[in-house]
Amino acid sequence: MYDFTFSMPTEVHFGKGKENLVGQLIKEKTDKVLFLYGSGSIKKIGVYEKIINSLRDSGIQFTELGGVKSNPRLELVNEGIEICRKESINFILAVGGGSVIDTAKTIAIGVPYEGDVWDFYSGKAKIEKTIPVGAVLTVPATASETNGCAVLTNETGMYKRGLKSDVLKPVFAILNPELTYSLPKYYMAASVVDIFAHVWERYFIKSEHSELLDRLCEGVFKTLITEGPSAVYERGYKSTGEIMWASSIAHNDILGIMGDFGSHRTGHEISAEYDLSHGGSLGITMCAWAKHVYKEDINRFCRFAVNVWDVTYDSDNPEKTALEGIKRMESFIHELGIPTTFKNANLPTDGFEKMAERAIDNGLGYVGGGFKKLYKEDIVNIYKLAE
Ligand code: NZQ
Ligand code: ZN
Repeated sequence: MYDFTFSMPTEVHFGKGKENLVGQLIKEKTDKVLFLYGSGSIKKIGVYEKIINSLRDSGIQFTELGGVKSNPRLELVNEGIEICRKESINFILAVGGGSVIDTAKTIAIGVPYEGDVWDFYSGKAKIEKTIPVGAVLTVPATASETNGCAVLTNETGMYKRGLKSDVLKPVFAILNPELTYSLPKYYMAASVVDIFAHVWERYFIKSEHSELLDRLCEGVFKTLITEGPSAVYERGYKSTGEIMWASSIAHNDILGIMGDFGSHRTGHEISAEYDLSHGGSLGITMCAWAKHVYKEDINRFCRFAVNVWDVTYDSDNPEKTALEGIKRMESFIHELGIPTTFKNANLPTDGFEKMAERAIDNGLGYVGGGFKKLYKEDIVNIYKLAE
């Protein structure tokens, strides 16, 4: 087992109706908030009303800022920072999916920082201070509600970049599976793929493995395989509940702090270029990444095939076993309705060089690395494998 430092300061409230606690939870910290949300889904599903009532009942003053887009942008972050400074707001309440929570986190670190908040994403500044963020989750995917990550797109150049710091972890997260029932099938499916990818990034690493973490990862993979289709096609409290908690633990480091993240980084460029959903981009990159790298550690891919997909191990031909695991994963993603190729996603195939160049324009010259460093030619090859 490798060494690590782990902190999980977020208080989680899981269950039906827990969104009604929001006013009470904020009252313990402050009485003035920025209430941040997306493009209107929370109004359609009645959550907006409940939040407003809870805030009013607890005597919390709030300023609303709606309009966060999926694949969130820097412009709205700057607007939020200005509002908080002007109105002396010192708490951000994010109600929505990862895009809203990531925007909230970025506003929160931008308020006490005198420079351009993008400095944190471009590596020019280190996060030291933040104002607190609380989250009410409506998309079970990113784990932003309990982790220290945020992902943002800078519309100047369409750079999609991520941040990680313990400082960014929300003070509370409200998880009511019922709030996800209204998600369109596509977004629920993309969420399942995103959760799968978060476990995947931790499972395929080159460093010393921990049997405990491997088994936890395999348990989450199996849960996604059994509950994912039912959450997508039928909904219901049991399956969405399993998926909602899986989403948090898959990416808040309980399953391991080390990771590769090559599938994510190559996927971010597709999302930035074509405004494709995050989970949609991962359907394309995960399978292609596996085909590009599996020879680096065939045994690892065999374990994945046998323990996760119940493939029978072929000792005469381990490569066949490894490839069968990748094939079953590809079919699973496909059956959820998420494309695994550019063609099936109706995306052009003439931007591979440009996206690969942008991916490695991060001061390192490569992405990934926990399993395999991906240089420009690797990334282009991954995109080609998903053509
Ligand atoms: O804007 P609204 O109207 O709310 O619509 C949203 C949006 O169109 C809609 N939606 C949300 N809740 C709904 C609903 N529609 C109906 N019923 C509901 N209950 O769903 C759409 C997607 O929302 P979004 O927040 O974009 O989805 P998600 O949670 O998947 O977040 C994606 C973003 O998070 C980043 C991704 O790159 C992407 O930018 N990630 C953040 C991570 C993190 N902070 O740890 C890690 C991830 O790997 C990921 O990179
Ligand atoms: Zn992700």
